[in-house]
Amino acid sequence: MKALVINGPNLSRLDLREKNIYGNFTYEELSSEIQKAAKELSIEVEIRQSDDEATIIGWLHEASDKKLPVIINPAAFTHYSYAIRDALAMVPTSKIEVHLSNPLAREEFRHTSVASGVVDGTIAGFGIDSYRLALRALVGISK
Ligand code: DQA
Repeated sequence: MKALVINGPNLSRLDLREKNIYGNFTYEELSSEIQKAAKELSIEVEIRQSDDEATIIGWLHEASDKKLPVIINPAAFTHYSYAIRDALAMVPTSKIEVHLSNPLAREEFRHTSVASGVVDGTIAGFGIDSYRLALRALVGISK
């Protein structure tokens, strides 16, 4: 199986973000742990990150066209990007939303995810394990 892992804004700067919330690792370390977990499950993953909404929408269009399953951490776009939600809704394959932190245990503006309603499921609050669990879930639900 081949899958696309899409990370949204500010995730490339994890080393500079709140370590008590996101964990003590860099984006490169996160990416290499995702690659390692994917390999163990025989999933070929391509991991991408962008701070730009249009770029992420383009990647979701690509996933639709190529029928690639998607694991996405939309980061702050989670809470307000209807454009990303609409693009996700079009993806015909499996889709999992992940978060390093548990947005429901944080500020109120993070309690809304406009993406959750158009994905197969959401995994949040487990740091790097959120991604590992998402990869496992992808194998289980793969369409
Ligand atoms: C996040 C949670 C979002 O609320 C936040 O804006 C992020 C990261 C997470 O992985 O915990 O940038 O998606």
